Amino acid sequence: MKKALALALATVMMLGLVACGGGDESTSQSGNTSGSQGDTSTATVANKDKPLVWFNRQPSNSSTGELDMEALTFNDDTYYVGFDANQGAELQGQMILDYITSSIQASIDAGEEITIDRNNDGIIGYVLAIGDIGHNDSIARTRGVRSALGTGVEVDGAINSDPIGTNTDGTSTIVKDGEITVNGTTYIVRELASQEMKNSAGATWDAGTAGNAINTWSASFGDQIDVIASNNDGMGMAMFTGWSQANGVPTFGYDANSDAVAAIADGYGGTISQHADVQAYLTLRVLRNALDGVDVDTGIGTADDAGNVLSEDVYKYVDEERSYYALNVAVTAENYEDFLDSTVTYAPVSYQLDAETHPTKNVWLNIYNAADNFLGSTYQPLLQKYDDLLNLKVEYIGGDGQTEGNITNRLSNPDAYDAFAINMVKTDNAASYTTLLG
Ligand code: BGC
Ligand code: CA
Repeated sequence: MKKALALALATVMMLGLVACGGGDESTSQSGNTSGSQGDTSTATVANKDKPLVWFNRQPSNSSTGELDMEALTFNDDTYYVGFDANQGAELQGQMILDYITSSIQASIDAGEEITIDRNNDGIIGYVLAIGDIGHNDSIARTRGVRSALGTGVEVDGAINSDPIGTNTDGTSTIVKDGEITVNGTTYIVRELASQEMKNSAGATWDAGTAGNAINTWSASFGDQIDVIASNNDGMGMAMFTGWSQANGVPTFGYDANSDAVAAIADGYGGTISQHADVQAYLTLRVLRNALDGVDVDTGIGTADDAGNVLSEDVYKYVDEERSYYALNVAVTAENYEDFLDSTVTYAPVSYQLDAETHPTKNVWLNIYNAADNFLGSTYQPLLQKYDDLLNLKVEYIGGDGQTEGNITNRLSNPDAYDAFAINMVKTDNAASYTTLLG
């Protein structure tokens, strides 16, 4: 009884404080004294103690993939938000394998030649567009495709994810020929070529480079190419519109950008949704929670006062890595109609927060490359919807995809912000940002 009374009293007191401070929509510059709103609501918060979220590019060693725990634990309110790269990579590989198998089966059932084997040589040839050889998501996807198709070669317990250049004769030692058996007949699966899609200025995941690559590859061994696999939809769509659509070759990407999903109706093979609607929410939500001084699980695993909550089938949190990972879903001809607009917020977390109890805060956020298809056409539009729902005033900075300096130059006044959301150019470079925060 006593305890309940004390609790009720405390609640009343808190509400009182909130009411006093609630009308004050000012930022950390104002000397707002409503301390009950959380640790960052006074002007005394040092930049090094402000909430920080890394997203899309996880602080890590670009050669070994080892997580940069120093960056991930920069302060008590630091997190990473991304998606489960291995689960998604497995899905992508399986989606491609299923497509090949059922296409062969369909030809057998129809009593035709195997149409997916375009030159009828018994080899299912594919080419692979690699996004960034030093990005763990890209590495995982390359491994996922090779693992599912049986073309991976293990080095030190993990599948080699290096690009092969060309391998039309099957002699590469980085990959090997795989096999698929359907109805008692075995077909060889060969990675004919793969390349990191980096342009001459240094931008990775570069769609233009992928478009050039498919032109070069198709000109020299076009009739051997039966399938295209791409680490993302931006590169995938460049290859699809540039060559594969006209030649009836399925292209498989990743991200479920709206244009790629729509292209499934025209022969794009499929893509993976990395649940950007959940990631964009988490990116801003962890900041909101720290700014409100509430438990980080609020509005995530535990419903908030507006009813926002995520269920376990769409994300997971790994405490040792200080990381939230959204889960992936395959998008194919069977279900693509449900994914046509990649910029719709996720309904269970689309409730507006109350502006009195969650007053406006200022956030500095950067996108590593303003020209990145996924971040530009899917992620940022989602962030812009969630920032309203979460009462965050976000300043969006678009980088050139090549140097951190192009971005950090525009973080000259960190004092003006309550929190930071960072998307690095290179996963090794966390310190370029944290040094600016002191
Ligand atoms: C996306 C890519 C994007 C990259 C940028 C990945 O998660 O799938 O499309 O280019 O992030 O870092
Ligand atoms: Ca063939």
